[in-house]
This record gives sequence, structure tokens and C-alpha cells, in this order.
Amino acid sequence: MARMKVAVLISGRGTNLQALIDACATPDFPAEIKLVIANRADAAGLARAAQAKIATAIIPHRDYATREAFDAALTAALVQAGSELVCLAGFMRLLTPGFVAHWRDRLINIHPSLLPAFPGLDTHARVLAAGVRFTGCTVHFVRAEMDNGPIILQAAVPVLPGDDAERLAARVLEAEHRAYPQALRFIAEGRAKIVQEHVEIAGAAAHFDIMLNPPS
Ligand code: GRF
Repeated sequence: MARMKVAVLISGRGTNLQALIDACATPDFPAEIKLVIANRADAAGLARAAQAKIATAIIPHRDYATREAFDAALTAALVQAGSELVCLAGFMRLLTPGFVAHWRDRLINIHPSLLPAFPGLDTHARVLAAGVRFTGCTVHFVRAEMDNGPIILQAAVPVLPGDDAERLAARVLEAEHRAYPQALRFIAEGRAKIVQEHVEIAGAAAHFDIMLNPPS
């Protein structure tokens, strides 16, 4: 079967991008990354893509007068690459409703909390301030509202005594690196279906470990 053509949008270090690159390099993985786009020339993730011989594009948001013009440039590059699915991986720009509508059900994001708890930035500091015992990560389809949309997969991670934001972030990041490739696999295999804004995954019971609480 043809592999799903994927594009990844990044702004920074790209460790989730790396997890997706590594997954796509394994035999029989049902997706391939055709393009990595960064909105910053200094995004360290660009080197990861180049290392893996994946095409890259730098589309600096500052070059565009409006968010709409920037998003139109993104869409043009994504279409040109034949993208069937767009993965946001630490992409630090808010996308316009028009972009989100264009890529509806073909645009996914990873966020380092158990959404709908703790959307937005400084997640781990806010998790610690709230005193919750579990946090985690969420891979979801993107809707217009930030960090919102049908949930594909979540992994739970314990908050441990003595954690600071950095330690907690590192523990959650390990879970992210397992969760994002697994979510991509579900979609590329055609097993993720959105029914009334909830994602149903065929045969998900076999993946109960990662969907609940992967060991760190
Ligand atoms: C991750 O924590 C991701 O959940 C969030 O931004 C961070 C990106 O990290 N959206 P990296 O660039 O993938 O290392």
C-alpha cells in the first residue's frame, strides 16, 4: 500500500520531528515525511530533516504582512509537496481559521498535557502549581481554537515529588516521542475515524499500554 505523504511544521529543536523521522525509517511504517517547514531559519529541527534527506523549506512569518498571507504560503508549499497530512511539532504560530478549515481532519498537533487541561504555554509550571498527580501528552486533530480538537491518543505521566518544570517536561517528552508516531500510524493505517468530533480507533485495545500510561 502507498505510504501516506506527511509534512511536519516546526519552530525549534524538533525532537518530536525526530521521533517521526525515526518511525518512518522503520520497515513497513505506513507514512513518509515529504517536507519539513520551519518558520524560523534557526530551527534546530531543520538539521534533523536534512540529515534524514528530507526536503526542507523555511517560510519566515516575518516576511508576510498578515497571518493569512503567511498561512497561504504554508498551504502552497504543503500542496506542492503532495501533503496528505500535516503534523504540527512544536510549531509556535497560531494558524488562521482559513488554514485550519482547509486542512480540516488532515492537520494534527501534539501538546504536552492531558487536554483539555492546561492548554497554552508554560504547561509544566502550571501543572506543578495546580498540584495534579498526573499529566501527560495529547495528540489531536486541530480545530480553530488553540490546543483544541478531537483527541487521537493520550499518554499519562506521573508528577513525582521533587519535580521541577524541567524534570517533568523531560518525562512528558519521552511519552510524546512514543505517542506521536503511534498516532501517525493509526491515521496512516486508516484506523482513526472522527465520529461526532470524537476519534474512534479500530483495534485500539491492542495498544492499551501507550494509550494509558507508557512507562518512562
Ligand atoms: C513539545 O513539548 C510539544 O508537545 C510542544 O512543543 C514541544 C516541541 O518540542 N507542542 P520539540 O521541538 O519537538 O523538541
